[in-house]
Amino acid sequence: MIAIIGGTGDLGRGLVARWVLAGEEVVIGSRVREKAELVASELSAQLGKRVRGTTNFEAAREAQVIVLSIPFEGLEQIIGEIRPALTPGKLLFSVIVPLKVEKGEVSFERPPAGSAAEEVARLVPQGVRVVSAFHTVGARQLKQVEKSLSCDVVVCGDDAGAKREAIHLIERIPNVRAVDGGPMRNSRLVEPVVALLVELTRRHKVPGVSIRFEGL
Ligand SMILES: NC(=O)c1ccc[n+]([C@@H]2O[C@H](COP(=O)([O-])OP(=O)(O)OC[C@H]3O[C@@H](n4cnc5c(N)ncnc54)[C@H](OP(=O)(O)O)[C@@H]3O)[C@@H](O)[C@H]2O)c1
Repeated sequence: MIAIIGGTGDLGRGLVARWVLAGEEVVIGSRVREKAELVASELSAQLGKRVRGTTNFEAAREAQVIVLSIPFEGLEQIIGEIRPALTPGKLLFSVIVPLKVEKGEVSFERPPAGSAAEEVARLVPQGVRVVSAFHTVGARQLKQVEKSLSCDVVVCGDDAGAKREAIHLIERIPNVRAVDGGPMRNSRLVEPVVALLVELTRRHKVPGVSIRFEGL
């Protein structure tokens, strides 16, 4: 089972929808159980498949795969809340990007560890296998399930087995290719790309922008 922590947000809803349609069992986590239940019932109605919602902690406890889909500001608090559920062997995706919006301008705000994913790896208990992914796909495009995707997802991480599992799960979503982006520190190269996607989305007034690499 996959738990999407912050699954009530834009990116989280998109991941829930795409994975549920691919046949995965997914549970939505939220800081507020009722909010998760509401979003789960909306998605169940939209997709014609059962989706459940609960607290972030319960979702993380039930699942072997956990996606942290929250703003960077909430990272320490949420890790604190779900910590007892972060048992060794679980696979944890970080999709988080530390973005700053100032006078309408979006920029990447590099955290002390170098990237959000490295901050996640620093904060979680030992034995939790962290990967960084989903930075090259627009949240709104993920959510528009009636439209097929065509994009690449770069996966960074220091555990080869975790990356293999992550790549398998990512490629369960039709027309999404997972690209091995190397060690976790390379998340420093990938995360800032989200600021570019946000800027292009705004400048060209489109619902979302995703990336497909040529030559790979
Ligand atoms: N949007 C994109 O295209 C995109 C692409 C790649 C990566 N990302 C990154 O992916 C992450 C999620 O993106 P998003 O657009 O889905 O974010 P979002 O909608 O702003 O937030 C996602 C969920 O996180 C929870 N949340 C909000 N503030 C929080 C806080 N201070 N502490 C703890 N939880 C909080 C909320 O859920 P509850 O209120 O239900 O708890 C919210 O629904 C972000 O780090 C973003 O930068 C986004």
